[in-house]
Amino acid sequence: MPDYEKLPLIQIKSYAKVNWTLDVLFKREDGYHELRTVYQTVSLHDELRVSETNSDIEIVCNDPEVPCDETNLAFKAALLLGEATGTSKGARIEIEKRIPVAAGLGGGSSNAAVTLLALVKLWRLEIGQHEIARIAAALGSDVPFFLIGGTAMGVGRGEQVHPVEQVSCEHLLLVNPGFAVSTRDAYEGYSRLTRPEPASIMPFTLPTANGVRELPLAARNDLEEVVLASYPEIAEVKRRLIAAGAGHAVMSGSGATVFGVFDNSQVTERAESEMRALGYWTERVRTVDQQEYQATILS
Ligand code: C5P
Repeated sequence: MPDYEKLPLIQIKSYAKVNWTLDVLFKREDGYHELRTVYQTVSLHDELRVSETNSDIEIVCNDPEVPCDETNLAFKAALLLGEATGTSKGARIEIEKRIPVAAGLGGGSSNAAVTLLALVKLWRLEIGQHEIARIAAALGSDVPFFLIGGTAMGVGRGEQVHPVEQVSCEHLLLVNPGFAVSTRDAYEGYSRLTRPEPASIMPFTLPTANGVRELPLAARNDLEEVVLASYPEIAEVKRRLIAAGAGHAVMSGSGATVFGVFDNSQVTERAESEMRALGYWTERVRTVDQQEYQATILS
């Protein structure tokens, strides 16, 4: 067994995201859905410890729900980066999971993106930003967002990301009812609900007159219509959050996590106790803007 203590090691935070908006426009020829979204990183994060080894790629995770084989997105990230750069170096990636899996919070995508960032440093690779973004997009539609973090608009299938004015929100409550929703099924269900062809490709427009600052209370998600029809418990979580004092409550990504928007910590804490008493997983979070994201992931 190698002595991991002696090998170069990088610790990296892998933040979760919510979507302030998610507009699905139409199904494209490549099978993906053209969308317009505003992503937001939040303070909940996994911790990754990435070390260089002389052998293959190895994943270790404290959560038995997370596969540690080649289906793990962080594993795929290391493999693709190794192939693209021709390195013969190996890596051990330890993932301390706190973000619920298949929950609409981007946990797997975030792990993959920060694995790329850590390995570029650890393996001392000469690789341009463009190439890293290309590998990230090949790993998944949400992965490129986690290379920049903060508040960013996503277009195309979500992989083309552009930072926008940063949103700040101190009191968000994440609530997960404890079941996974398949992203593929959510999008397929949406396609069946709506007309096959769009009138046109709409330009992205911010949904409020006052720009991004109002996004938390104007949040919306096109996938709710189809996912809530299959999983009424998510609608119940939304109702309970509003009854508990949230100004707004919306499903994140393809679900099943719902985020409630609150305006003070006391009400948020009370709502959290109520949700926990019902057996739901909860986490109180705040937004992490792009500056904080980039300053803290590698510290
Ligand atoms: O890109 P990612 O692998 O995360 O997407 C998972 C699945 O979600 C895709 O295979 C596709 O079925 C669906 N999807 C989609 N349109 C998007 C993003 C994802 O149809 N913009």
